[in-house]
This record gives sequence, structure tokens and C-alpha cells, in this order.
Amino acid sequence: MPHLQILLTSTRPGRKGAPVAAWFERQARQHGGFDVELVDLQAVNLPLFDEPEHPRFRKYQHDHTKAWSATVSRADAFVFVTPEYNFSAPPSLVNALDYLSAEWAYKPVGFVSYGGVAGGTRAVQMTKLTVTALKMMPMAEGVFIPFFSKYIDANDAFTPEDTQNAAAQTMLKELLRWTKAMAVLRQA
Ligand SMILES: Cc1cc2nc3c(=O)[nH]c(=O)nc-3n(C[C@H](O)[C@H](O)[C@H](O)COP(=O)(O)O)c2cc1C
Repeated sequence: MPHLQILLTSTRPGRKGAPVAAWFERQARQHGGFDVELVDLQAVNLPLFDEPEHPRFRKYQHDHTKAWSATVSRADAFVFVTPEYNFSAPPSLVNALDYLSAEWAYKPVGFVSYGGVAGGTRAVQMTKLTVTALKMMPMAEGVFIPFFSKYIDANDAFTPEDTQNAAAQTMLKELLRWTKAMAVLRQA
């Protein structure tokens, strides 16, 4: 079964991304087409990009980069669960992307974004530019959650409307299709 990594990209103390990612992880397990792993960038704990060489050379000097490379290498597909900060992507996500190169290439990526009125869509549009530079394929189908905090209860459980559950399943279906196609591109 293809390996899906769900990236929880928000790293700040008190973040609300964790309940959103937990909800999406359940959706992914319910979908059943992927072997699912949740990767928390707060736990990965990357410093601001500090490798002397361009990542395409894979001459990594730091253990944190080698560990991050090993993590991303085992994925066949990704879903980035992302907030929007100042109409753009969170720096934690951009930084995590910049660290590596070939590890991302020829793999599809879907987005779950959350925020105010725009539902994090500006962060997603910005990140799509970056992922295409890394030869990833961003999904057109996505999960965009406006005013997301109204779906989080006092216990930090995130329970969105059925339309969001349906959007998650639609995106996962499309993601699996691209995952199968892009595996061919990664063959030697
Ligand atoms: C630095 C900062 C900038 C923000 N900018 C936006 C924004 O541009 N659009 C938006 O919808 N929400 C914005 N917000 C509000 C976030 O949607 C909200 O704080 C959300 O909980 C952030 O996700 P997180 O809790 O997982 O970090 C911003 C929040 C922070 C901390």
C-alpha cells in the first residue's frame, strides 16, 4: 500500500492545527487506500535552513537534515495540513520544504487548509508555487476550512461539517490516483 505522510505544519505553542490534522488522519484511515503516518513539524524541530550545499547534492552535514531526509524519503504521497499566516504559508512549512529536494520529487501533495474567511487558500496557492519547483504535483481538489475554530470544541476535538468530510474523501481518491501514476516516474 502506498505510504501517505500527513504533515502537521503549524509549530507554535497552542496551535489549532493538531486537532485539524487528527481529524484528517481519521479521514485518511477511513479512506483505506494508504498506509498513513502523521508527521508533526513541531516534533521534527528543524532549525532555520542551515545546510551549506544546495539540497540537490544531498551532501547533508547535519543530523537533523539526514533524519528529515529519511522521513520524507519513505513517503509516496503527502497531505499538508496548513494554516495561513499573513496571507501566506507558515514559515515552518516553507523551511521544511527548502531543506530537501529529490526526496519530494515526483510525489503528489494534497492540502488541508484552515483559517478565517479565506480558509487558508492563500497559503495553499503560495505553497503550490514552491512544490512545483520541487517537481511535486499539487492536487486541484483540496479541503479548505473557513472559520475553522467554530468546529473545535472545549476538548480540542475538531468536528467539521459533512461537506468537509466529503471534500477530504474526494481529495484522497484523487491523491491515490496520482500516487499510482507518479510511482512510475520514480522508477530508475
Ligand atoms: C502570525 C499569524 C498570522 C495570521 N494570519 C492569518 C491570515 O493571514 N489569514 C487567516 O485566515 N488567519 C490568520 N491567522 C489566524 C490563524 O488562522 C489562527 O491563529 C490559526 O489558529 C493558526 O493556525 P495554528 O493555530 O495551527 O497555528 C494568523 C495567525 C497568526 C499567529
